[in-house]
Amino acid sequence: MSTLTVTLREGGLADLADVMAVMDDSFEPCFGEAWTASQCAGLMPMPGVWLTLAREDGGTIGFALSRIVADEAELLLLAVRRGAQGRGVGKSLLARFEALARRRGAARLHLEVRDGNRAVKLYETAGFGLIGRRPHYYSGPDGQNYDALTFAKIVSI
Ligand SMILES: CC(C)(COP(=O)(O)OP(=O)(O)OC[C@H]1O[C@@H](n2cnc3c(N)ncnc32)[C@H](O)[C@@H]1OP(=O)(O)O)[C@@H](O)C(=O)NCCC(=O)NCCS
Repeated sequence: MSTLTVTLREGGLADLADVMAVMDDSFEPCFGEAWTASQCAGLMPMPGVWLTLAREDGGTIGFALSRIVADEAELLLLAVRRGAQGRGVGKSLLARFEALARRRGAARLHLEVRDGNRAVKLYETAGFGLIGRRPHYYSGPDGQNYDALTFAKIVSI
């Protein structure tokens, strides 16, 4: 399948419903990684926060939510609809995060991901290195906890 029909564009609070539709479709509820609509709505208008949408056929199939503070940018959320996964959309959103973070003056990129999430391979391939572990960072609805892995990438010195 091709990604040629997928376009990336920046969005905002007006795209919250699209973001939540992708969130609900992509994250497995058992791990407690997904954010609520009010968490997203509270963060999106804050300074240094930006949203990128992956669009296809008039619909949103993926998004990345990011933030920069001083010279450190953080990828807060990355998600692609189940039906659109495995076509390079996640990789494109990650590359866009890096490009826009650099343009905004980031020297260091940062992200957290659940230990065992297959996105780990995506981040490692993109040059992120493991720098830490936060035990029991994610809590599933059944009360089970999962560690977060912290990854970073230096993009300039
Ligand atoms: C993680 C996620 C965003 C990847 O999106 P995607 O569009 O499927 O990713 P891509 O097609 O660009 O694949 C990039 C890499 O991810 C990995 N990957 C993607 N889908 C995979 C799958 N089904 N099985 C194993 N690895 C997979 C591979 O390493 C792949 O690289 P490759 O194609 O060179 O082998 C998507 O799986 C998702 O939304 N997951 C649920 C939400 C989540 O956990 N987000 C990350 C934490 S915030």
